[in-house]
Amino acid sequence: MVKASTFTLVGQRDDIPRLGSRRVRTPAGEIALFRTSDDKVFALRNECPHKKGPLSEGIVHGHSVTCPLHNWVISLETGEAQGADTGCTGKLAVEVRDDGSIYLAIPSGMAEAAVA
Ligand code: FES
Repeated sequence: MVKASTFTLVGQRDDIPRLGSRRVRTPAGEIALFRTSDDKVFALRNECPHKKGPLSEGIVHGHSVTCPLHNWVISLETGEAQGADTGCTGKLAVEVRDDGSIYLAIPSGMAEAAVA
């Protein structure tokens, strides 16, 4: 997990369709935000721990995403590969405020972020 200290506004929950995702470019790399069917928002590095597939293009189900390249299932809660697969992609902390604003914990000194 990336050490984070600065929460930065990166968009609104309603910008992300349910079971969909959005990419956020940060100086720390590209981050994928996922919205689940129960309206939770999670943030992972947009790189599968297998061969760096773009997780933002995967299928969201439950609190997991299936990578579009080789179908590994990655937990949105931990960034860990599920089942027999092993590996972990970085997970960032996210806060969704009462008005639906999404704040992403960007590593210290890397507060500039833009929604892709
Ligand atoms: S790159 Fe994601 S499963 Fe292979």
